[in-house]
Amino acid sequence: MQRLNSPAQLKACGTHPVLPGAAGFRQRKACAAQLVLALDVDTIGEAKRLLDSLYPKIRVFKVGSHLFTAYGPKVIEMLHKKGAEVFLDLKYFDIPNTVAKAVASAVRQKVKMLTLHISGGKEMLEAAVASARQQAKDAKVTRPLLIGVTILTSKEAKTEEVLALAKTGIDCGLDGVVCSVSEAAVLRRKIKNNFIIVTPGIRLNDCVQDDQKRIASVSQAVKAGSDFLVIGRPILKADNPLAKTEELLGDLSRLRR
Ligand code: C5P
Repeated sequence: MQRLNSPAQLKACGTHPVLPGAAGFRQRKACAAQLVLALDVDTIGEAKRLLDSLYPKIRVFKVGSHLFTAYGPKVIEMLHKKGAEVFLDLKYFDIPNTVAKAVASAVRQKVKMLTLHISGGKEMLEAAVASARQQAKDAKVTRPLLIGVTILTSKEAKTEEVLALAKTGIDCGLDGVVCSVSEAAVLRRKIKNNFIIVTPGIRLNDCVQDDQKRIASVSQAVKAGSDFLVIGRPILKADNPLAKTEELLGDLSRLRR
């Protein structure tokens, strides 16, 4: 049985006290890693079918450039109408003013979390953080979690590079980072703040790697301290997405026992 309550693990993922407005993370007492489905599909109809079949087994759905470019905020509205939470993964990377405005728009759309590239630089990150706080206050909505992309999991990366980017992101006030499972444990050890780790590149044993270079299983991701396990094609391309989801959730719940 997997031990999830060692002092180190509880310290790493037990509480996220520094997130004003980031509901749900303030008082976490135990690891509760969540599966996130990347809705990387061509049509809103396909997205709706997946949502209808997988919610509430999966509660957080990731909307990336693929679906958002085609349908825009309509997708977010559809997910919210169902009761699901939205991870807006548009990986902002632009001048500070533009990113700040994009973040403010995302706040108004009440997304749970969003991504931006840490390599966009400190000024961009700080502008994003300030904008999220201000807009959440003005609109009286919960501030989304701001998650910084370190190095894409489709690329090879040196752990030190990922660590340096993650430190920059957290220092600038981000709530968490996206990294591969292979870096997650090091980040937990070396960055003292409480922060969220999002890990894409999750694969089952029988799955193909696709274009991902740094992949891992559910169990490896949870052991490494991941909070949100992002998975797309292994579910999207499965003959039976619901059965595949249940298999992954089974892996997760076995780890919680
Ligand atoms: O299909 P697959 O499981 O590889 O999907 C992974 C998802 O995570 C994709 O939507 C991709 O855009 C996203 N992602 C990633 N690597 C990052 C950040 C996000 O693969 N560093």
